[in-house]
Amino acid sequence: MISRRLKILFAIGLSAIAFFATTRLYYYVTDDFTMSNITHDMSQEREWSIPRVPLDQETRIKAILSQPFTYIGKGAQCYAFESEDHQYVLKFFKFKHLRPVWYIRMLPSIPPFKNIKVEVEQRKRRKLNMLFDGYAEAWKDYRQESDLIYVHLQPTDYLNQSVILYDKIGIKRVIPLDETFFALQRKGVTFKHQINKQLAIGDLPAAKHSIDQILQMYIRGYQRGFSDQDRGVMDNTGFVDGHAFHLDVGRLKRDDNIRHIEVYQKDLKQAVSKIDDFIKKKHPEHYPQLSAFLSDQYKLYTGSDFSAAQSEKI
Ligand SMILES: Nc1ncnc2c1ncn2[C@@H]1O[C@H](COP(=O)(O)OP(=O)(O)O)[C@@H](O)[C@H]1O
Ligand SMILES: [Mg+2]
Repeated sequence: MISRRLKILFAIGLSAIAFFATTRLYYYVTDDFTMSNITHDMSQEREWSIPRVPLDQETRIKAILSQPFTYIGKGAQCYAFESEDHQYVLKFFKFKHLRPVWYIRMLPSIPPFKNIKVEVEQRKRRKLNMLFDGYAEAWKDYRQESDLIYVHLQPTDYLNQSVILYDKIGIKRVIPLDETFFALQRKGVTFKHQINKQLAIGDLPAAKHSIDQILQMYIRGYQRGFSDQDRGVMDNTGFVDGHAFHLDVGRLKRDDNIRHIEVYQKDLKQAVSKIDDFIKKKHPEHYPQLSAFLSDQYKLYTGSDFSAAQSEKI
């Protein structure tokens, strides 16, 4: 009897482990890129009224989108694909994080479930609004700094085109552009990639120049009333054609207060702290020099001292 129960328990445990392992493997192999994860019923959402671009620009955008795109990676908010000519990145928003999961949607609309449902819905909607606001603001006033070529934040009826994607496991997907939501951007290299390359060959002057280009980009953003609430400076900023750019604008925020030095110095400190941490961990042999350089630049741009040891960690 006992041994039969044990056997059943063992079988249940084994099935649970197998299920868990298969799910993890599926996520690892595919990054869970599916059509339903990049589509959303926008009729329930706010409107982001992005004016149609002039015809010559639209023709260029459609030409760019007529080439196939191959998966390059993901973050928390987007799936990113690279164009065949390696010049552009096409991003699809990850709606799976922007709407309540099925078991929350299934909850009955009666207390106390109703409150949970409403609370989760509101939280997800705030996330979606923040993401789309970031792209809308960048498109409107921060286009050069983000090297955006196009944003599609609302359904349209004039693109009349599909784009071909090859997902992480090489499966071909045909995505109708009018009804999906995406951003098209110049392809660059991430700050992390650039500095790793420079430091791998011990090119400290080049690494310092890269760091300074990124810090100056932040300062220019503050002066124009923009800050990035996403602190992942190493992955979310980078370089294209030799200039620094903000490749992830999903948490870009317009805020007039950020123009003031006493406000932006805190924001800059967080970026500097992230860079400092990265170098300390990944390139300890160059840390003394680069950490001193970071402190000098911070002082130059804010008039305040940066102390890596005391910096505010997120
Ligand atoms: N324009 C680009 N050029 C090169 N790589 C990019 C570009 N945009 C995104 N990537 C790569 O894809 C990743 C995810 O894109 P990102 O815009 O940061 O999405 P998320 O908002 O989900 O973090 C980035 O960290 C980067 O590695
Ligand atoms: Mg990112």
